[in-house]
Amino acid sequence: MKCLLIYFTGTFNTRYVSQLLKKKFENVGCGVDLYEINPLQTEQLDFSGYDLIGLGYPIYGFAAPYAFLKFVRAQHFPKGAKCFIYKNSGETKHANDASSIYVLHKLHRDRVDVRNEYHFVMPYNIHFRFEDELIREMFMMNDKLMDVLVYEVMNNIPNLRRYKLWPRFVTAVVSKPQYIGGDVNSFLYKVDESKCVNCDLCVKRCPTQNIYRDENGKLKFHHHCLMCMRCSFYCPTDAFYIGFLDQWGWKVNGGYDFQKIERLELEHPVITDKTEGFFHCYIETYKKINQRYNELFCKKEEEKKTGEKR
Ligand SMILES: Cc1cc2nc3c(=O)[nH]c(=O)nc-3n(C[C@H](O)[C@H](O)[C@H](O)COP(=O)(O)O)c2cc1C
Repeated sequence: MKCLLIYFTGTFNTRYVSQLLKKKFENVGCGVDLYEINPLQTEQLDFSGYDLIGLGYPIYGFAAPYAFLKFVRAQHFPKGAKCFIYKNSGETKHANDASSIYVLHKLHRDRVDVRNEYHFVMPYNIHFRFEDELIREMFMMNDKLMDVLVYEVMNNIPNLRRYKLWPRFVTAVVSKPQYIGGDVNSFLYKVDESKCVNCDLCVKRCPTQNIYRDENGKLKFHHHCLMCMRCSFYCPTDAFYIGFLDQWGWKVNGGYDFQKIERLELEHPVITDKTEGFFHCYIETYKKINQRYNELFCKKEEEKKTGEKR
């Protein structure tokens, strides 16, 4: 069995999820190749030799990022190919539910056999910064959800349901401004020269080569920005002004130290039945993950034990 995971990532959360998923598949004897989408290179992939295709993306404005959608639309998927979607985002509100809708349109057009979709939770790279303990708990949940994904996909257990009308509506409305948001917003981008240390990380890392130095050595911007946040998120001196996102206070600066977070010991649950406000939506998400995980793995274990006793 061979699987190809195709994903787009801005600030590397989706890369992180994809790498973990690769390990999970390998643990059950399924070989995995990773393909990270380069928005500047929409090549046609060769799917021969793969039994399974996974499509991964971070949710942007309740939809798939345009760069991801464009890449997927350019592919000629083999008819009947077995495919699943794994998306991730900072919150699990139902407004995100239908984010894959245009991706699914394309897959259905190509008559791909797509019956599974999974929503992982990862820390925000926009809006506000997440606490390490919260992320640690998210990772624990993601680990369970990955086990569920691998089991269901490998055993042909579908989990894709029809999206409700209102998340479809949200995706239809918000996705369009998302497609052009970065191009428009980039007219407002600035770099604070008093903070900039000329490391040029932003220039080197921008996935669309949208940042360059002019003849006077000043950082300048073209207008083909994906709003992936890689430049401002990883800027070592927080020197970026990112237009209306800065105005709204939606800039997050400084990467998360996932390796350190993976080692954190949680003394008590972070999300509980009493969690209110923004993170309230996590209660339902975590309950569903735990429930499915227990159904698949814990009940079977119990049945095995009681069978052995008899
Ligand atoms: C432009 C933009 C829009 C976003 N919109 C949403 C959203 O609608 N819902 C959500 O839960 N998270 C949203 N996020 C957060 C990302 O989905 C989340 O941080 C994700 O893990 C980033 O993955 P990446 O590092 O692979 O790019 C958005 C992030 C960006 C940059």
